[in-house]
Amino acid sequence: MRNIITLTLAIVAIGCSWAAPKTSNQLRFDPTKSESRTMTMPDGSTVNYIAYERLYYVTNIEDSMFQYLNVYVPENATSKSPILLRTYVGGYMASRAGQPQAGDASGRALKEGLVVVIPGTRGRNSNIHIPKNDKKSGLKKGQVIYTGRAPNAILDLKAAIRYIRYFDRELPGDAEKIITDGTSAGGAMSALLGTTGNNSAYEPLLDAMGAAPVRDNIFAAVCYCPIIDLEHADMAYEWLYNCTDSRQQGDFEILAISDQLKAQYPTYLESMNLHAADGTLLTSENYLNYIKSEIIRSAQLAKNAGAEIPDSIGFKFSDDSGFGAPPINGGVNSPAGKAPLGRQRPASMQRGSKTVGDYIVNLDMTRYLNYVVSTQPLKTAPAFDTQGVAGQKASGENELFGDSSGSSVNFTEFGANTAGTELTDVVRHNVALMNPMNYIDDGASTVAEHWYIRHGARDRDTAFTVPINLALKLQNNGKNVNFLLAWNRPHSGDYALDELFEWIKKITSD
Ligand code: DHB
Repeated sequence: MRNIITLTLAIVAIGCSWAAPKTSNQLRFDPTKSESRTMTMPDGSTVNYIAYERLYYVTNIEDSMFQYLNVYVPENATSKSPILLRTYVGGYMASRAGQPQAGDASGRALKEGLVVVIPGTRGRNSNIHIPKNDKKSGLKKGQVIYTGRAPNAILDLKAAIRYIRYFDRELPGDAEKIITDGTSAGGAMSALLGTTGNNSAYEPLLDAMGAAPVRDNIFAAVCYCPIIDLEHADMAYEWLYNCTDSRQQGDFEILAISDQLKAQYPTYLESMNLHAADGTLLTSENYLNYIKSEIIRSAQLAKNAGAEIPDSIGFKFSDDSGFGAPPINGGVNSPAGKAPLGRQRPASMQRGSKTVGDYIVNLDMTRYLNYVVSTQPLKTAPAFDTQGVAGQKASGENELFGDSSGSSVNFTEFGANTAGTELTDVVRHNVALMNPMNYIDDGASTVAEHWYIRHGARDRDTAFTVPINLALKLQNNGKNVNFLLAWNRPHSGDYALDELFEWIKKITSD
């Protein structure tokens, strides 16, 4: 969490650029322009690697502060090594091409022998100041152009993928083994890269930027708490959190908005025709139970690994008596003074402990959701498309869908209707280009085969339904999905790196 805040502050500080547009006649990679470096890992070990930096991935560079990538090659890498593309997009803001970090997946990837790519991307806050009057375009000296409004960040990332593939022979690493990784808005970018491979909807935009004329599909996507499905995220949020004290005992006007949005979710959910792994069709009747089972699965895994799971947040545990193995010989051979093995009470079941029983058997969802909200207050309602709704200000997402003049706009039917604004076709189109849910089964994309999706079990930045729906839709379409609501994690990413890199090893060695 602290990392996200630090990162966000850093991004805000560099959001404003004065970099003039540039064009070049071709994409370039010069292998002689490199530098040898060493990184010290958290355990004190070191990794030697070669850095290739400032590689512009388009020929029509609108914003030279952001539209390039850096490549880092560990000394043992070959042309067959997988490539980790780590995006540091956060809050849908601009993100500069950084260097690998010892404490996150980028540093760990180097240590594991993967080639690491860190692209910069334009974002909702990046802008350029026009240095002189330009008769051709009509742009005036001093005019400010916002360069990263939707869908430009995903276009930049797709151009970065194309650049890597275009120079696959010259660069170490295998362009057919690209794994993307991002958190939150970056998780959304990773999900978009995974779902929109080679989709023609982006083609004219990429052409205009001068992206390499090659494929942009990827091998695998790692998505931590992806903030996606923005046009349905408000209704999902209220469907889940309307029951909490925060909404029920909060502002009356906000509760009225929450009630309306909540009522819209079942139709959307059921339109997706999602199925659980056992084949059960998910409906608005059984979906809360499905979420409950995912939270119980998460807590049980943590409990098995030794975590204390308190009953005060809504969990019910198995009765200890039913779960012991039957005593051998009715207990006759048990050591003197001790209960037979099957009857012993594990430490977690001892008197006074709240975490009795080996198994979690139930969860009071309202209580649990109130717990989540107690760790971080809910967003307002609507959670995303706030602008002009009950007099509220623009959110980051309202800015994201604004245009290059720096405007902010509503992007949902509900937001526009309530605020009394118009949802234009341009905005609708951009909203569609930013939603990975649209491309999983549209038959026009090369969707990544492998998915690692995590969302904290107490992350309230978007509803649990959002990453769950992504995972289910991918799974229902035959993809290899590793999904978990990570126990007690807030809104954060790049955790459990041992587990992540085990997964990466498995999918890349199959
Ligand atoms: C991020 C978090 C949000 O709550 C949101 O609405 C958009 C982006 C982020 O951390 O990237």
